Amino acid sequence: MDKIIIDGGRRLAGNVVISGAKNAALPILVSSLLTDGKNTYTNVPNLKDIQSTCILLQNHGATVEAAENRVTIDAGNLTNPEAPYDLVRKMRASILVLGPLVARLKKARVSLPGGCAIGARPINLHLKALTALGAKIDLKHGYVEAEADRLTGADIYFDIVTVTGTENIMMAAALADGVTTLRNAAREPEVTALADVLNQMGADIRGAGTSEITIRGVESLSPVTTSIIADRIEAGTFMVAAALTRGDVTLENCEPEHLEALVHKLRLAGAGVHVCGKSIRVEGPESISSVDVKTLPYPGFPTDMQAQFMVLMSVASGLSIISETIFENRFMHVGELRRMGADITISGNSAVIRGMPYLSGAPVMASDLRASASLILAGLVAQGQTEVNRVYHLDRGYEAMEKKFEKLGAAVRRVKA
Ligand code: EPU
Repeated sequence: MDKIIIDGGRRLAGNVVISGAKNAALPILVSSLLTDGKNTYTNVPNLKDIQSTCILLQNHGATVEAAENRVTIDAGNLTNPEAPYDLVRKMRASILVLGPLVARLKKARVSLPGGCAIGARPINLHLKALTALGAKIDLKHGYVEAEADRLTGADIYFDIVTVTGTENIMMAAALADGVTTLRNAAREPEVTALADVLNQMGADIRGAGTSEITIRGVESLSPVTTSIIADRIEAGTFMVAAALTRGDVTLENCEPEHLEALVHKLRLAGAGVHVCGKSIRVEGPESISSVDVKTLPYPGFPTDMQAQFMVLMSVASGLSIISETIFENRFMHVGELRRMGADITISGNSAVIRGMPYLSGAPVMASDLRASASLILAGLVAQGQTEVNRVYHLDRGYEAMEKKFEKLGAAVRRVKA
């Protein structure tokens, strides 16, 4: 397995171009299942999760071509309604095929994703909503089996804000008979990006970006050519890196309006954050101030930035509290950060962080995607050498991360297995 070695203590400076958003690209590539023809996507990040999605879509009978950051998908001839365990276990987001397959093929058999390193992550709300649209659902042998001759619009309330749940049902309802209303829908920019693409295909979706989305079903959807929005979590990770290393980094090709909560917290921590069109310049402070953070659904502070922000607080000047309200087990990075000298105590869903003057490099193990990113950040600021193991997690969601950091002046290298 590859590992990443970082010699810490270098100040980051320069420009970095932000890639397309993984979590927008995944549902958008899957939405090709709703069309009969060739869709073209640009600014698609070159990531393991994208490759897994392409393999999954090919498994359903789609023709996929991928070259650099461009992917074409022709789902004109869908043959297989089954998403097998071997593909789904590699990527939970595979559950996104459930709604589109039922809408298009009238049936689907999708392996249940199961829990993962950050929590139990059930899909009960996806299933409840699909049932409300008229699908008959059975759970058998670890699979969800869903069938519906024709889905029918319904009034759906999500008990918990769910991002992929909202996306799954929005796709299914786009081809249903009549009107569907999603209440307490997720407002994440990735949901809005998917709604925009579906509308470009001919769907009638209003209200995306608010907690009430109305979908008027249409008979059929047409293929599109579209570009993927910038990755706000990749951008946020580089912003924290700049602040952490007292650097001066300009992010290009990002969406500053998707990053407001983080910008606010970074400014409170003492960083200079300057927004200009599609770019953001972050200047790290001499001394980092402690700031409390609570993760929340968008537009609140993203859970996907919690681990990275915790590294910043680990070297801040006082005490901070980070509360995780989205996932029940998203503190796996804490044990590893402690091994690097961080002073963090967990109490329930909160971490109490006493800022230390420095962290010290150590061999560490990544447990999930964002935890991996946080360990790389810790390595950038630590004294001495850090070795981050199990970086395959990182490759699922960050395009060429070590190359981008190297270009900014970090001493980072990948050691191939
Ligand atoms: N939940 C349920 N039942 C459901 C669905 C969700 O109880 O049927 C709970 C979850 O267990 C969790 C909460 O609701 O406690 C929110 O989960 P959500 O469904 O919103 O998460 P997701 O859609 O599975 C997406 C991102 C995650 C990101 C979360 C929260 C994708 C592919 N994944 O997951 O991204 O953390 O939303 O913003 O969009 C990552 O990129 O590293 C990542 C984990």
